[in-house]
Order: sequence, then C-alpha cells, then structure tokens
Amino acid sequence: LCLIDSPPWYPSPRGGTSETWAHSYQKAKVMVQNMTLLEKVNVTTGVGWSMGLCVGNTGPAIEAGFPSLCLQDGPLGIRFADHITAFPAGLTTAATWNRTLIEERGYLLGKEARGKGVNVLLGPSMGPLGLAPAGGRNWEGFSPDPVLSGIAAADTIKGIQKTGVMATAKHFVLNEQEHFRQGGEWLLPNAISSNIDDRALHEVFIWPFAESIRANVASVMCSYQMVNNSYACGNSKLLNGILKDELGFEGFVQSDWLAQRSGITSALAGLDMSMPGDGFAWADGDSFWGEKLTIAVLNGTMPMERLNDMVTRIVAAWYQLGQDEPGDNPTSPNFSSWTNDEYGHLYEGSGDKTSGKVNKFVDVQGSGDEAHSITARRVAAEGTVLVKNDNGILPLSPQGQGIEGNIYHVGIFGEDAGPGKGPNACVDRGCNQGTLGSGWGSGAVEFPYLVTPYDALKESFDAGKVDVQGFLTNEISDQDLQRHDLCMVFVNSDSGEGYLKWESVRGDRNDLYLQKYGDDLVQKVADNCGGSAGDTIVVVHAVGPVILEKWIEHPRVKAVVLAHLPGEESGNALADVFFGRVDASGRLPYTIGRSLEDYGESAQVLYFPNAIVPQVNFTDGLYIDYRYFDKHDISPRYEFGFGLSYATFDYSDLTISPVRDKSLLPPPRPQAPVSPPEYSKEKPDAKSVLFPAGFKKLHKYIYPYLSDLSAIKQKHFEFPKGYETTQPLSPAGGGAGGNPSLYETFVIVTVNVTNTGNRTGQEVVQLYVSFPDNVEDRDDKFRESIEFPTRVLRAFDKVEIAPGRTKRVEMALTRKDLSFWSTRRQNWVMPVEGRFKIEVGRSSRDLPLQGEY
Ligand code: NOJ
Repeated sequence: LCLIDSPPWYPSPRGGTSETWAHSYQKAKVMVQNMTLLEKVNVTTGVGWSMGLCVGNTGPAIEAGFPSLCLQDGPLGIRFADHITAFPAGLTTAATWNRTLIEERGYLLGKEARGKGVNVLLGPSMGPLGLAPAGGRNWEGFSPDPVLSGIAAADTIKGIQKTGVMATAKHFVLNEQEHFRQGGEWLLPNAISSNIDDRALHEVFIWPFAESIRANVASVMCSYQMVNNSYACGNSKLLNGILKDELGFEGFVQSDWLAQRSGITSALAGLDMSMPGDGFAWADGDSFWGEKLTIAVLNGTMPMERLNDMVTRIVAAWYQLGQDEPGDNPTSPNFSSWTNDEYGHLYEGSGDKTSGKVNKFVDVQGSGDEAHSITARRVAAEGTVLVKNDNGILPLSPQGQGIEGNIYHVGIFGEDAGPGKGPNACVDRGCNQGTLGSGWGSGAVEFPYLVTPYDALKESFDAGKVDVQGFLTNEISDQDLQRHDLCMVFVNSDSGEGYLKWESVRGDRNDLYLQKYGDDLVQKVADNCGGSAGDTIVVVHAVGPVILEKWIEHPRVKAVVLAHLPGEESGNALADVFFGRVDASGRLPYTIGRSLEDYGESAQVLYFPNAIVPQVNFTDGLYIDYRYFDKHDISPRYEFGFGLSYATFDYSDLTISPVRDKSLLPPPRPQAPVSPPEYSKEKPDAKSVLFPAGFKKLHKYIYPYLSDLSAIKQKHFEFPKGYETTQPLSPAGGGAGGNPSLYETFVIVTVNVTNTGNRTGQEVVQLYVSFPDNVEDRDDKFRESIEFPTRVLRAFDKVEIAPGRTKRVEMALTRKDLSFWSTRRQNWVMPVEGRFKIEVGRSSRDLPLQGEY
C-alpha cells in the first residue's frame, strides 16, 4: 500500500559514528569549534544563484580556515566549462555492464572536476531510477534495475572520489518525472507527491543510495518533489530516519536547487546545506537560511546542536576527501559558469561589475595515451546494444560486401547521422537537432566536439572500394534511396530536464516513439533502399527504451543498433562496433516493450495535475521494468539484459556453494565504535552578528549577517509533529549502507562460460534470484504472506573470452540479496524455509543454468 503521509523521525542523527570517517570528524571538530555563528551559517548556505562562478557556491569560514565550496554539475562531465570531456551518459555507461570501465569513467570525471577547481561534483544520478520509461531524466542515471544502478553508482563514486572530489548521490528520492517536480516552475502551488510503500522504497528506490553510502559518498542531494506528501528536502523520515540512521550516512545532505521548502523545519528534518541558497526564486536574495538561520539560533528556536552537526558534516566530508591538502590542484574554480570570455563578473547575479580573470581555459581532457576521449569512446562502444543482426550483416568489412571489382554503395540517412547546427546549438542541449549525443538540462555539458556517425563511418570504409553518400536529413526522396547496396538510417528520441521544453516535450517524453518522424524514415528507407534490393541497418540514439514495433520485423531491416547517448566520441564508437574493432557487448539496462502501456499503470507519467498537490501512487513500485513484464507475463520485444555479441557463448557447470547458513534476521545492530563530536554549550554573542561597519553589500547576495538586532525577538515557532519523541534506532542500521551483516556473503555461485564463436568476444554473465514460494512474514503477533517479483538481478560480471576458451566466473550473494524488507519489523528478513532459485545466463529471459539454495 502506498503511504499518503510520511511519519516523523527526530532528532536528526549526528555524524561521526563510524570508524571510516572518525579521523575526518576529529579534524572537523577542531575546526568547527573555532567557528563563529556567522561562519557556521555561511558554510551551510549557498550565496545565491549565479553569485559565484559555479552553479553552487557556499560562503567561507575565513578565520577558521574553511573555504567557499564550488559545487558543479554533473553526471556526465563538467557543465558550463571549456576543455572538458563530454562523456557518454549514465544510461550508456550502464549498458556497458563493465565495472572497470564504469569506475574509470568516474575517475576521469573526478579528475576533470578537480582540474577545474570543483569541490563537489553533482553526480552521479540514480534517481529518477526510471520507473516511468518516458521520464525525462532517466538517462542521467543508469538503469531502472536497482542492483545494476547501485553497482554503477557505487563504482562511479569510487572513481570520482579517488581524485579527491566529493561526489553527490542524487536525487534522493522518487523524482521519477519532470512534470510538477516543483510547484513554481509548473505554475502550481505545490510540487507533486510520489507516494510509495515502505517495502518498494527500500527494495527498489533506496537501494542504489545504500550502495552509494557503502562507497563512502560525501554528499546526497535531496530531490524537488514530495514523498508521501512531505517535501523530500524536509522529510524527516527520509533524511533523518533512512539516510542518516538506517543507512549510516556520514556526509552532508544538500538541497536540489530551490528544492528547500522550509527554514528551521528542513534543518530539523536533516537538511545540511541549502542550494543555491535562495529560497523561492533564482537569485532573489531571500534565503530560508542565511540571516534567518542566524536569527533562529540566537532566539533559541534552532538548536545549536543541529547547526553544529550540519557544519561538521560538511567540514568532515571535505577532510575525508583530503581537500585540506590539495597539492598541485586548484583550490578554487578556474572557469565561470556564466561567460566564455576570459574576463567576467565575479558576482554575476548581483549586478556588481567587479571583474576578474574568470576563465583560465585549463585543458583537463588529458592527452596522448591518457586522453580521456579514449575511455569516452570505449564506454560509448561497449554501451551500444546490438539487438538484431540477421545473417550476421554486422560487423562490416571496410571494403564493403560488394562483388569483386564493383564499387559498393552505402547511403547514410537521417539528421541523426550528421552535425545539424552543431552540438551546442541550444542552451543546455535543450533541443533535438543533429546527431543525439546527450539529453538536455543540467545533466548535459558543452560539447568540446562531437564526432558524427556520418564522418566516422565514411572514414572507416575503404574509399577506393566503397562510395558513401550522406543524406543528413529526415526528408529524403525515393530517388535518394535508389542506388545503394546498403542503407544506414539514423533516428532518435530525446528528453531532459523539465525547465526546458523542446517542441511539445517538456522534460518527460510524451510517448516512447522515435521523434522527428523517425519511424516513417526507417520504413521508407527499408522499403526503398537500393530499389528494394538493399539491406538496411538502423541506428537509434535515445534516452531510454523506444518502441520499435513499426518496422522491427521488416525483412530488409537486417540490423538494429541501440547506441543510447554516446557523448563526444559518438561516431568513432559506433564505427568501432560496426566494423568489429570492439565486440558488440552492450546489454539492455531496461526492457523494450511493445507499447508504453506494457510497462504498467505505475509507470505512466502524470501529465495533468490531479489535485492541488498532484499525487502519483507507485502501487507497482516493486514491479519496475522487467519485474512488471514477468509478473504479468507480457512478452517484451527485447528483454532486460539482452544484447547480441559477435561471438557466441555457452554456459555450463553451475555450482552453488553456501558460505553461511540461512538466518532469518541480521544480528542486532552493532554499537557505534565512536561518538559524534561534542561542542561547548555556550550561546553565541548576539552583537557579533551585525554587518561590519562599512561593509559593501552585494545586491541579492546571501549573507549570514543581520542589519538590525531587533529581528532576533523570539517568535512563536511550531516544532514539527513528533519532534519531541526520540525515535528508536533502526535494527537495519549500524554501518555504511545499513547493518554490516547485510553485506556478508551467504552464497558463492560459479559458472563456466565458453566462447563457441570464432572471434574474441565479451559476455555479460547475469545472475537472477527467485525467492522461495509461500513466504510468510510472521511472529507471535502477525502473519502476512509476502509476494515477490518472479526474479531479480543480483549480480553480474563482464568477461572477455577468446574463441574456444572457457572462463570461470564467480559471483557472490549477500544477506541483503536474499532478504525482503519487512515493514512490520523494519528490517531485512531472509526466508529460511523453502528454496531460492538461482539462475545464470545471458539476459533476464535467457537463463540456461538453474540451481537452488
Ligand atoms: C537542478 C537539477 O535537478 C540538479 O540535478 C542540478 O544538480 C541542479 N539543478 C544544479 O544545476
């Protein structure tokens, strides 16, 4: 059952209870105890939209020695910056299923952020998870499957944080559609409420965040909309209860930009940093915190202990990443988000004309063997999924497939194969034109360049033997199609963040069809290529699943390639796969249905508000993507996990070795090994908070100072409901990501995979678990039968195997993998009766090996 309200959870757990962070908390304590009230407020509050060089800038604590922090998007590269790499999107990255590559991409993202002077990178995204396949921002994250998404998020974070940059797990949580994510932006009084039950919340949507915390993520960004009718950035159950208590999060929670909806209440609920600092409108200078937080502390409403914890969490995260010892790295941003010129305003949003050298044009792309484009290209190639390959038409030969002595004619069709008006023609990539390399919004970057498919493919063919003609438009004539032996047609489907609208697409897609008459284009090409004698290869660039039904069975559509959002190396990566320089080794990180309805009711975007606070009920939250198809026996066009390789693989010798006996519940939550820092209880002195004499105030800039002490008067403040009641600690907590026992291995599964093809290939070995039948959650007082998805992905590994060779692949299952979330016990429960079914194979519906535990 979906919950329509959210229970209170107070007080906010203080950070500094884990071994891993203990050292950083000790150092943070020393610094924070020397901070004045004003400095503390400054560290927690952004200075306002576009008041500094980054998209988020905090105030410094100069005397105490803590700098302003630069927070910058985003998940696939450094936004609003020059000389950076436009990496493939999260979706493409997930489609590689290659953990080494995923971490490598994260590492390079971090390196580029570091080189640009960014303290906090605003990614990776793992929410939206992708409950709604048409959701506008799914592509920024990885996959609707929580395990794939969780692994990809954790590996990305590990990579980023190796460079000393703080990563941000966002958006916490359930921002599954763009429509009504905020009130104001959609001319509504309130944002939408995503309503969900506790079990689906834990087993699906929180899962990747738990993995991120296990990977030591420094920051979490709370999302815009409400969860169970309480704003996500002021939801005490989510922030205090789940994130900080149950999952043991030691870093800081920052609001999404203008997602904060209350002052003291949000602080009490667990918010630690207000971004970008403004309250209701961009650059309006009116913050929920800033001077108001100063007042609230002085008049006794805001508990000093909470403010100390907020600041300590931020400072500890900074120490945890070693940012106190920057070495040769820049300590402040060397680029401006607001101009491409070398000189520009330092406080753009304030109207102040003080200028300086804001863009130093530092090239962070790496070079030679270390060029980041090498990884970008590899990720794009391995994130390309081959779903149809009749007669093995792919890989192609550079000489073409023509008759000896004849020129082979190849036609490349569609706007999506070409440059259009250039990759940066629209602000934040907010339109669909030219070849699609990224979705739009804050999750996009300025392309430094974009290699088009047309250019790269043409170059890969042997010009003496193959004639390549480009028709880089979606309006082609029958005549254009006549002479070709082979036609390649490029089509796409785009979406992005909801503050931008392209045609009628306001963030979320309106359907899952190809855009710009792509289906008609494919049909036309397939019908008429070479006077109906030519073969057609279709390439789709898309932000998620697309419906292929209109032409997928066309007999002359020989191959279909889903290239997702490849980033700057688009054409090169595609050519790598087309010509077999890289095996076709991507696998679908989502299901391709035959219609949008196939994904179920819960998976539909709400396009029209249905209440003053629009309500969406994720009644099928547990049955996301393939789990819904399996439950309702709907046959997809291409199932989750599917993708062809140029090699073929055989599976054999499944072994299932229990390491531990099944046990119903994890042992009691362990005691915290260390205690949070304590601070003096002394009240700050009110007089010190006035603007210093002669201070030059910037217009609309957010300061912690007051102009007038009369504002400090005690006003009546209503503490949130349930604030006086201390909640018991969660039995599921006690470590990073929850009770450490959840992550102990219970079973080891091994399998042999043999390459039976005639070339080296890469296989993604996938392990799915089915829970036992007739499971009940019961004790003396209750008895409830528990339903499960047919099967759930729990582990995978990508292996490269030479022809004729066999590799042994080992995968582990933890307690959590074998448990469900009991809403009654508020804990993970492992069914100890009955047998788990364990299946291993090449997709969610092609699982040749089965066993039991
Ligand atoms: C709003 C977006 O939702 C978030 O993902 C982004 O990091 C911020 N804007 C800052 O640009």
